[in-house]
Amino acid sequence: MVHREAAAEWYARNRTRSRALFDLIEPEAYYARPIALRNPIVFYEGHLPAFSIIALINRGLGRPGVDPRLEQLFARGIDPESEDDATPRSGADTRWPPRDEVLAFGVAADALITDAILHAPFDESRPAMRRAEGLFTALEHEAMHQETLLYMWHRLPHGRKRRPVYLPYELNGDLPGHATVKVPAGAATLGALRRGPADLAQGKHPIPFGWDNEFEAHSLDVPAFDVDVHSVTNADYLPFVEAGHVEPPAFWLREDGRWFWRGMFENLPLPPAWPAYVSHEDATAFAASKGRRLLTEAEFHRAAYGTPSGDERPFPWGTAGPDRTRGHFDFASWDPVPAGARPAGASAWGIHDLVGNGWEWTSSLFAPFPGFVPMASYPEYSAEFFDGQHYVMKGASSATAKELIRPSFRNWFRPNYPYVYAKVRTAASA
Ligand SMILES: [Fe+2]
Repeated sequence: MVHREAAAEWYARNRTRSRALFDLIEPEAYYARPIALRNPIVFYEGHLPAFSIIALINRGLGRPGVDPRLEQLFARGIDPESEDDATPRSGADTRWPPRDEVLAFGVAADALITDAILHAPFDESRPAMRRAEGLFTALEHEAMHQETLLYMWHRLPHGRKRRPVYLPYELNGDLPGHATVKVPAGAATLGALRRGPADLAQGKHPIPFGWDNEFEAHSLDVPAFDVDVHSVTNADYLPFVEAGHVEPPAFWLREDGRWFWRGMFENLPLPPAWPAYVSHEDATAFAASKGRRLLTEAEFHRAAYGTPSGDERPFPWGTAGPDRTRGHFDFASWDPVPAGARPAGASAWGIHDLVGNGWEWTSSLFAPFPGFVPMASYPEYSAEFFDGQHYVMKGASSATAKELIRPSFRNWFRPNYPYVYAKVRTAASA
């Protein structure tokens, strides 16, 4: 059974946070396109309510929305391979509506959606509403896009943003040492159990919702490997850049011969102990320069959730829910913290920051698990990206909502996409 009041409260919390994120932008920047590979800002303010209408109201409940024209216009984002890739959905020729119209659409959508969450019959015989799928699809989609918004805002010039409250930076962490730890061979569970009626009755299922790419749960034997205790820091990465092996990360800039971190609201002298946020390509190249490689997705699970006793736990630190003492996530601040600054979140092997302070690139291509079935409320969510062109990221960043933190959650991007909050950790087969 869905707790409707809790779901409505989550929806309201999502909407309040989204509004606060759009309030960070100077109004004149509303039609700007901070990332050429993505739609302009206006799209996202319409997309969030439009998507909730499509997933919950149209597909889930079989009811009409509030404005079919706007719902169509704002239905889907884009992910072209390069900036020259003209696609019908590229948005380059789209005439976007005035902001007042987008905001009024959002208000009408919120009223319809909130009423539906509280009062509409949830017909579980509709595939998009099984186990309230369309509801969770809408809720988690908005939470996920809040991270999209923030990494996009990171690209905007500081003069086009306004800082709402001061969140102090954590700049002065000690540089962590270069320790590695050996994780012995063992089994790792990937994915989540799909809930059946029997599981429901016994309360066995670990999560109330998962995206289609999280199913089915399966176990893999992982050979022994060794892995960095800490993520690669800016100080670790700097010589690699200065030797000319790669372009500087998108989060770095150089002025008058000095390196700076391009922070959300100001540039900071490059904090040496912060994790380097880099593309998958550059992460892979960095690891190779050390004679090492990235973790596979299965190795990440083993490192994060496995234990010496063979049990697996829902979080690296154990079973307690994600709070900010355990990791840098859930909108704790606008930028990273020093590697190793949340030791209470270390895994059973003593590995730090596996969940938090930036996603972790893996060497695994994004691919379906055995038993994959596209979800009825959002059939295009994963299937379009099983193309051999996207790699799995695991964990969480400062901009990942706590509701999304679970072992089976998977994120994916193209290897050359440099804008996400994603860090590097190197590993080697033992
Ligand atoms: Fe979306």
